[in-house]
Amino acid sequence: MLQHYVVQGSCKGCLFFASSIGLLFRRPISTHRLASLREICFRALSTRARNDSSPIQFMNAWYTNEYGSNIVLEFGSQPLPRLRKATDVLVRVHSASVNPIDFRMRSGYGETLLNVWRKMENTDEFPLILGRDFSGEVVKTGRMARRFTEGEQVWGTPSIISGGTHSEYVVASQDEISLKPSNWTHIEAASLPYVACTVWTALVSRAGLNRNNCQDKHVLVLGGSGGIGNFAIQLLKAWGACVTSTCSADAIELVAGIGADHVVDYNDSNVKKDLESLGGFDVILDPFGGQVGEKFTSLLSKWKGAVFVTLAPPVLSKTDDLGAGLGLLSAGQSFTSSALQKALCSGSLVSWGFFSPNGPALDYVGSLCQSGMIKPIVQEIFPFSKTDDAYAKLELGHARGKIVINVADDEIAKLKHPV
Ligand SMILES: NC(=O)c1ccc[n+]([C@@H]2O[C@H](COP(=O)([O-])OP(=O)(O)OC[C@H]3O[C@@H](n4cnc5c(N)ncnc54)[C@H](OP(=O)(O)O)[C@@H]3O)[C@@H](O)[C@H]2O)c1
Repeated sequence: MLQHYVVQGSCKGCLFFASSIGLLFRRPISTHRLASLREICFRALSTRARNDSSPIQFMNAWYTNEYGSNIVLEFGSQPLPRLRKATDVLVRVHSASVNPIDFRMRSGYGETLLNVWRKMENTDEFPLILGRDFSGEVVKTGRMARRFTEGEQVWGTPSIISGGTHSEYVVASQDEISLKPSNWTHIEAASLPYVACTVWTALVSRAGLNRNNCQDKHVLVLGGSGGIGNFAIQLLKAWGACVTSTCSADAIELVAGIGADHVVDYNDSNVKKDLESLGGFDVILDPFGGQVGEKFTSLLSKWKGAVFVTLAPPVLSKTDDLGAGLGLLSAGQSFTSSALQKALCSGSLVSWGFFSPNGPALDYVGSLCQSGMIKPIVQEIFPFSKTDDAYAKLELGHARGKIVINVADDEIAKLKHPV
C-alpha cells in the first residue's frame, strides 16, 4: 500500500506559486535570491505534500523542459510514474547520487540516439527527470514482479528511458534492482549502483575479468579518485588483482587507502615512464576517452590478449553532432586512431564500455558490501532541495568519491563511513 501523500490537483495555489517562481527563474536574478526563491518553493511544495491526505498521484521532482546550463533545472510537482510492464516496481527514493551523465544530459548530451530509443518505447523527451541510481523502498509491484515485495529496501539503476531518480518515486524493472546491503544506509547505498553497473560492463563483460581469474592480473585504472575509479579499484582488489591507478596528487592518499597497489600523479610529466616501470598491464580501464586514455595503450602487455576498455566512446557526441547514421559511422572511425591501431596490432583488444542496468550484478556487489570488502566513499551529501547545487558541484570536477542527494531527508545522522 502506498502510504505517502504528495501534492495533487487540489493544491492549485501551491502549484501556481511554483510556476510563478519558475517564470522568475528565467529572468536575470542574483544567485542568492534564486536560491532563496527555490527554497521557499521547495518548502511550500514539501509542506503541502505532508499535509494533503489525498491518494498519491503526484510527486516532487527535479526536472527540465529544455536543455541548457544548471538554470534550466526546476523543482516541482510531476505525475507519479506508472508501472509500464508487469515486471515493474514502484520505488520510493530515499537517496540518489549525482553522476557526470546527469549534467551532460541536462545539456542535451545523447539527445539524438536517446530520442530514437524514446520513440521506440513511446515515451516523451520532456519533462526530463535526471538521476540514474537510487536507494529506496518498494511501494508497489507489478503483477509479475515476484522478486520483490512491498516494503523491501532496494537499490538500483532504472534504464535511461524509465525515468530519473532525482524525484520522490521512480519505476524500475525488477531486473534492474536488487536488495540493498542491510549494513549500508540509503545514503551510502545510493552512491554505488550506477558506477557499479558501468564498471561491471567494462571489467566483466568487456575485459572478461571475474573473481576466479584476477589473481595474476595487473590492471591500470585511470582516474582512481572519482566514482568509477573508487569502485573499480575496490572490486578488483576484492578479486585479488594487482591495481595501479592515476589521480591528482591531493587524492593519492584516498586512492591508496581504498587499496590501489601503486598510485601515480597523472599531472606529473613522468607519468608514462612511472607507469612503464611497473610492467605491462593486462587491462586498462579508461573513463575519459580520446587522447587522455589512448596515450596509455602502449602500456598494455603485448601478445597476451590484453584489453583496453574506454567508458567514453564518441558515439553519443558524434551522433549529436552529425545525426544518427553519420554519427555512428564517424564514431566507428575512431578505431582507426594510431594509438588504438597500435594496440590492436600488438594482439590487444580495444573495447567500448557503456552503463547497463544489472540487478544480478548488484546482488553480487551487495554481498561484497555486506562483507565489508567494498566500502562507500561519499564525498558530500546535499538535501533534496539543493539538488541543483549538487549538479553544480560535480560539474566543477575534482570529485573525491560520490555526491549523494538525501531525498527522503532523514539519513544524514546514519552515515557511517564519511570520507
Ligand atoms: N560509458 C558510460 O556508460 C559511462 C558511465 C559512467 C561514467 N562514464 C565516464 O567515466 C567518467 C568518470 O566518471 P566518474 O563517475 O568517475 O566521474 P567523477 O566522479 O566526476 O570523477 C572523475 C575523476 O577523474 C579525475 N580526473 C580528471 N581527469 C583525469 C585524468 N586525466 N587522469 C586521471 N584522473 C582524472 C578527477 O579528479 P581531478 O580532476 O581533480 O584529477 C575526478 O576525481 C565520466 O566522465 C564518463 O566519461 C561513462
